[in-house]
Amino acid sequence: MPALLPQPTSLVPRAGQFVLSAGTGLTAPPAVADLVRELLGPATGFGFPPGPDIVLEVVDEPALGTEGYRLAVTPERIAAAGTEAGLRWAVQTVRQLLPVAAYGTAAQGDARWAVPCVDIVDVPRYAWRGCLFDVARWCHPVGFLRRFVDLMALHKLNTLHLHLTDDQGWRFEVRRYPRLTGVGGWRRESAAGHAREDRFDGVPHGGFYTQEELRDLVAYAARRGVRIMPEIDVPGHMQAAIAAYPELGNEPGTPVEVRTAWGISSRILNVAESTVTFVTDVLDELVDVFPFGYVHLGGDEVPPDEWLASPAARDRAAAAGLSTVEGLLGWWARRLAGQLAGHGRRAAFWDELLDHGAPAGSLIFAWRDAGKVTAAQAAGHDVVAVPQPYLYLDWAETDAPDEPLAIHAPLPLAKVYGYQPGGVYGVQGQLWSEYLPTAELVEWRAYPRLAAVAEVGWTDPQPRDFAQFRGRLAAHLARLDVLKVNYRPLDGPDPLSGA
Ligand code: ACM
Repeated sequence: MPALLPQPTSLVPRAGQFVLSAGTGLTAPPAVADLVRELLGPATGFGFPPGPDIVLEVVDEPALGTEGYRLAVTPERIAAAGTEAGLRWAVQTVRQLLPVAAYGTAAQGDARWAVPCVDIVDVPRYAWRGCLFDVARWCHPVGFLRRFVDLMALHKLNTLHLHLTDDQGWRFEVRRYPRLTGVGGWRRESAAGHAREDRFDGVPHGGFYTQEELRDLVAYAARRGVRIMPEIDVPGHMQAAIAAYPELGNEPGTPVEVRTAWGISSRILNVAESTVTFVTDVLDELVDVFPFGYVHLGGDEVPPDEWLASPAARDRAAAAGLSTVEGLLGWWARRLAGQLAGHGRRAAFWDELLDHGAPAGSLIFAWRDAGKVTAAQAAGHDVVAVPQPYLYLDWAETDAPDEPLAIHAPLPLAKVYGYQPGGVYGVQGQLWSEYLPTAELVEWRAYPRLAAVAEVGWTDPQPRDFAQFRGRLAAHLARLDVLKVNYRPLDGPDPLSGA
């Protein structure tokens, strides 16, 4: 039996196999049939004409939830049942049951496309299984974002959290405010080496995504069962926007450039009504491009110094009945969450909002430590668990000298796999990109640890058996080899695996 990853909830191997051929006929909802042809067509060279051999049927069975599926492979046919979302995951499972050559992009005429007979019932533990990808620090090409989505879908991860704006770059085209990308999308140079070295490369960097590119990406991801949650990070992490429109800042007389260093900027949004309107204008365009039910509004790492020094901010805090100026963080959040609610969307925030009155009904991303998960739950919020000591995949796996430069270390594979999210809404890996300027480095940090996140999120195995997971993973990596993923090999220095 091929090594499936994530491990299905229940799997019973049966005798025999089903062998795909040019005549194998397909019955499925149109979008799922397209996915079968898109995923299995290139390597097999088969067209999957209409017919009764692979039958993927939409059923409404409460036990399967919104994303679960049943899959029965017999020598006569492949049959799956589930919601349309569940059927998409069933297709990924069939793809994993095939020889790894199925992941190839060119037809392999002499291959034998056998699927071992099996009965699978598979229902994810968590509704939200995600990955944050920071495209603000480095603007990765949209073609790489499609590949990133492909790899997420292969692991049944269903949510891409796209961090689109930060101090060092604004990547979302806003038609009403073209300087956001025209100015805010470009920085003069970037940090070289680790941030603490205070060195710079002298090389301009920038770029942005048009709304059309992002709409295409959203549709591409949706075909694979991946939703995209955009993040516009306010009221801190906004130096690129303030560089483009100085009137958004607290010191319009002291212009800033798009930030070139990593780390936290002290330049934050002011609290003028016109600035609120500016941001709500941005959100109006954002929700038009991203149909997903959640929009992330940031709220992390907001140094209050500019507000403390600003009479206008102090007046605003007093008028809003806030006991501290720092409470303006909650005031910002409530204003914007209210505007999103008018669009039928829910707001998501980093866990700093717990300290300043997170809007009721908002989704909290608990990042600073695992204790924030329980704090957010105690405050009545749905929680996506992303605690940095377990799930910040931009940390290096080890602190060995041959590791590529990283913000922090170590976060070994075994520690990621050992994470116990508890009764949360979801779980998500983070790929902040300060030290990930290239696709190769993104993949090196993402895999194989994102595969561990995927299994924690889908199967939540109890107890965790790392040795068993690692054995399946070793076989799974052969798939990533065919896809030429630049993952970090397992036989590297991994202190907990003993490899
Ligand atoms: C964060 O890592 N600043 C959410």
